[in-house]
Amino acid sequence: MPQLTSDTSRVENIDFWENLYRTNVTPWDLGQAAPPFRTFLDSPYAIPRGTIGVLGCGSGHECLLFAEKGFEVVGIDFAPSAIAATQKKFEDAGLFKKNGFVVQRDMFDLHHLYGRFDYILEHTCFCAIDPSKRRTYSYTVKDLLKVGGKLVALWWLLEKRGGPPFSTDQSEIFDLFKNDFRFDIIHRPNDSVADRQNKELFTVLTRMK
Ligand SMILES: C[S@@+](CC[C@H](N)C(=O)[O-])C[C@H]1O[C@@H](n2cnc3c(N)ncnc32)[C@H](O)[C@@H]1O
Repeated sequence: MPQLTSDTSRVENIDFWENLYRTNVTPWDLGQAAPPFRTFLDSPYAIPRGTIGVLGCGSGHECLLFAEKGFEVVGIDFAPSAIAATQKKFEDAGLFKKNGFVVQRDMFDLHHLYGRFDYILEHTCFCAIDPSKRRTYSYTVKDLLKVGGKLVALWWLLEKRGGPPFSTDQSEIFDLFKNDFRFDIIHRPNDSVADRQNKELFTVLTRMK
């Protein structure tokens, strides 16, 4: 993904993201669900159907993938254009308000949904937020999940200055989640898109308490 800006405070602003969608500057958008999610759902390790919240869902590729597999999907994003694109994907597939739902809201203001989800999905949302909010992100994921619920995540392991996307590594992710979550799957995918090859980590974590 090309460098967008180095100003961490900007990424907390809806207008920053909305403007990128409106001007079609969305280099994170793969035009499809990330292949490791599809591979996972077709594997013997796939999770059973349930309710899944997709944080920072963007234009909704993962939302559609999971909805087509029969999950009840709630796409969450604060940018109106992202929500509109996700809703359109659900509508085109005949799944909107059947098992595809959208919530246009700040992901750090979702108290009404606490304990609601069997699963939370992470894909290039963690690396998009201000790095100083990462601990809050981990608490938000925990609070949104039922006890025993799972975080299904594809982490983009970046080493760079500035962002978004902002750098992270495996040890930071372990540190953020190790107190409240069990790591069930830790996997280096071999089917990442070309410019993310060897830079992604796929994990499934279970909320333990
Ligand atoms: C890099 S994009 C990733 C989109 C999508 N997950 C994907 O992989 O294509 C980050 C998304 O997170 C959303 N976002 C960033 N901060 C957010 C927040 N605090 N609450 C809700 N959405 C947020 C942005 O609007 C944007 O759609």
